[in-house]
Amino acid sequence: KKWFAVIGDPIAQSKSPNMHHIWYEEAGEDAAYIPIHVKAEELEQAVRSLKLLGASGWNVTIPHKQSIIPFLDELDELAQKMGAVNTVVRLEDGRLKGYNTDGPGFVQSLEETIGTGHRQDPLLLIGAGGAARGIAFALQQAGYTSITVANRTAAKAEAIVQEMGEGKALSLEEAESTLDLYKVFIQTTPAGMSTGNLELPFSMKKFPAGAIAADIVYNPLMTPFLLAAEEKGAAIVNGLGMFVHQGAIAYQYWLGEYPNTNGMIARLTEQLG
Ligand code: ATR
Repeated sequence: KKWFAVIGDPIAQSKSPNMHHIWYEEAGEDAAYIPIHVKAEELEQAVRSLKLLGASGWNVTIPHKQSIIPFLDELDELAQKMGAVNTVVRLEDGRLKGYNTDGPGFVQSLEETIGTGHRQDPLLLIGAGGAARGIAFALQQAGYTSITVANRTAAKAEAIVQEMGEGKALSLEEAESTLDLYKVFIQTTPAGMSTGNLELPFSMKKFPAGAIAADIVYNPLMTPFLLAAEEKGAAIVNGLGMFVHQGAIAYQYWLGEYPNTNGMIARLTEQLG
């Protein structure tokens, strides 16, 4: 029997075990997926144990996405570039390979809604944390050609642009006064998360009509950013698709097939709505 896991601290809140179990059932896979609480100082031991006990792969969440890298044998190109891993695959010869499916999961979710026809459109990525980095590199890999990164700490936006080797960096103030120049907006700050502050850290006054607005937060499904964008007639993409597709891409690395993401998104939308 194949088995998988997700390691993190905290871990009890993770929706991944439920999601993967539903997919196993749908595919007739005799597999299991268990959440394991691993503290930062236990990470090396946990990786050794997962290997010893024969896990076929596992997801990695906060706070281990970066610190797990020294314990892996090989990294996929995007994970290498991001310096962060969310999916580990045990290869046939037993070596461990790290991938990052967060950014590609976002792009998959975005294009499922808006198609592939916006890759040349001016795109504004708001925020420059770990999530934004992954999304920036995945967008670039997918062929997006006009990426501007805006962040409260402009130097962090600048660092992402440097690493991409193209694009533009702005402060949040600079971005907010030129919002009308963009067509696609991606909000990656924690603004609007049910556990955090509900204030948007920038003004939507210059947000153009007929734009596309995506958020990476999915709890709640409607964030302050998406609500404000919808009021201006934008097509909106919530963060749930990113979550489901990052899991689906991991599932495919492990089991070879792409699971049913539409059904899963509908099911989780109902649960969260
Ligand atoms: P994640 O891994 O989810 O991206 P992170 O790495 O902590 O989380 O990044 C959080 C992002 O949200 C950063 O871009 C942060 O801006 P700074 O780089 O200036 O810290 C941004 N952010 C968080 N709280 C914010 C706030 N109140 N106003 C504006 N930006 C905020």
